Amino acid sequence: MINIVRLFAVTFIILLPLYSLARVTGPCVNCHTMHNSQNNLWVADSATPNPALLVADCIGCHTGQNTGVNTMPYVFSTTPPQYGTTGTEADTNTLAGGNFYWVSNVDDRRGHNIYGLAGPDQILTLPPGGDGTFSGQLRCAGTMGCHGDRTVSEQISAVKGSHHYKDHTTWQPGTTIAASYRFLDGIQGLGDTSYEYHPTDLKHNKYYGFDRTAESETPDGTISSQCAQCHKNYHNGASSLTSSGTFATGVWLRHPTDYDMSNAISSDEYQLYNNSSTYGNNIYSVISPVATAETSTTVNTQVFAQANDAVVMCLSCHRAHGSPYAGSMRWNYKAWPAGGYNGCAICHTAKN
Ligand code: HEC
Ligand code: HEC
Ligand code: HEC
Ligand code: HEC
Ligand code: HEC
Repeated sequence: MINIVRLFAVTFIILLPLYSLARVTGPCVNCHTMHNSQNNLWVADSATPNPALLVADCIGCHTGQNTGVNTMPYVFSTTPPQYGTTGTEADTNTLAGGNFYWVSNVDDRRGHNIYGLAGPDQILTLPPGGDGTFSGQLRCAGTMGCHGDRTVSEQISAVKGSHHYKDHTTWQPGTTIAASYRFLDGIQGLGDTSYEYHPTDLKHNKYYGFDRTAESETPDGTISSQCAQCHKNYHNGASSLTSSGTFATGVWLRHPTDYDMSNAISSDEYQLYNNSSTYGNNIYSVISPVATAETSTTVNTQVFAQANDAVVMCLSCHRAHGSPYAGSMRWNYKAWPAGGYNGCAICHTAKN
């Protein structure tokens, strides 16, 4: 009986009509329960009431299969999602972050091992490239997670005041959790309202990037600086990125991020980004996207169209949540050329 009540509560959520408005809408009862009690049976996903009187926790609400009409962004699916070759083909049903299905069901290398979805990572017990300040198993939000205020330990408290106040129509300046890109505290950007369900060059997330001039520089608000909160050395730090110690001279020690490709444009390798036939006519690639320093609400559909709009970022190669491939890669670079896909060639057009 309890399970029927639970199912009822959860079904309510799954059936929420899906076209994304600016923020959560709909009857309060879909998402909140005043006492966690109906006919003396619990309503929420457990007998213990959830914070903010919610009927489910982050994972409870954000589990399901995306159809293109759901307003709830689903990041975990209990059945195998359709990812295709790069997660961008017409028959896919994953979103920009990818999906936690594979790290939950296949192995530890396919994404972030979130508590409640997967056991602790048996291979990576600490974040690679980290400075030792983070340890323990990841959660969605708060001190142990990526979303919300990372100084608050309880997850819902960490995102409090965000769900009802998201405004997708403006550039996210990162001034509050609600006004941060995808509730990532302080991170800027413009989120696609369908979270990149079937993205195209005309409809996709706009990521914020910055063209650095020093390897110790930690630009405020870029998507790559968010990853650097735990994977610091992969992004910044003295002698972390370049052999010469002077940013962007000589050869690299680690793949550049928060670095604009136009700096390397003397090589026609990058001029032909995304298989363009001519420089200056480069269409934005949803397979290997780039970030931009331009902060208007106009989606960046062309690359090299304005200053610093070709910034390499962590998400040029990775999915933040998980993917079917090792290292949470956007494409299977290890299986290429026999199989897989050479997404590196979107930028390294001379290497294919
Ligand atoms: C689609 C789901 C959903 C619906 C519908 C919904 N809420 Fe919420 N609400 C949430 C979530 C998730 C949180 C907790 C996280 C946060 O604050 O972002 C929350 C938090 C709150 C909070 C505390 C934080 C704040 O923003 O003040 C209040 C109060 C609240 N809701 C009231 C309501 C009322 C009243 C209604 C009906 C008019 C309602 N909610 C409908 C999902 C929903
Ligand atoms: C709050 C800390 C934290 C943040 C922020 C964070 N990570 Fe991680 N990451 C970890 C930890 C811990 C691991 C190792 C354990 C695991 O995979 O769960 C990890 C592992 C990884 C892995 C290896 C996955 C595997 O199992 O092979 C990749 C790739 C990765 N992170 C990329 C990113 C990217 C990209 C971002 C930014 C969008 C990011 N991380 C932000 C903590 C973090
Ligand atoms: C009661 C259900 C519910 C719970 C619990 C919930 N969410 Fe959500 N979440 C939603 C809905 C519905 C939306 C879509 C809102 C919209 O249309 O903007 C959403 C949107 C989001 C977004 C996208 C924001 C954007 O930029 O558009 C993020 C990120 C997110 N939730 C994270 C979380 C995290 C982290 C937790 C737990 C701390 C959580 N959610 C708990 C229902 C929920
Ligand atoms: C979003 C564009 C982009 C993608 C995708 C990309 N790269 Fe790069 N890569 C660059 C840029 C820009 C540089 C810096 C070139 C320079 O400074 O001359 C670079 C540098 C490198 C270097 C170091 C070259 C040197 O001179 O030190 C290697 C090696 C490399 N990339 C390999 C790869 C591989 C392998 C992949 C796929 C897993 C990949 N890249 C994907 C843009 C990209
Ligand atoms: C040019 C493409 C590219 C970019 C940009 C990139 N990565 Fe990676 N990353 C890779 C590849 C390829 C692997 C190896 C994946 C595998 O295991 O097959 C990897 C592996 C990782 C791992 C796992 C390391 C381990 O010890 O197993 C982490 C963590 C990671 N990347 C984080 C990041 C972060 C954080 C950023 C941004 C600062 C970033 N990556 C930018 C391509 C990239």
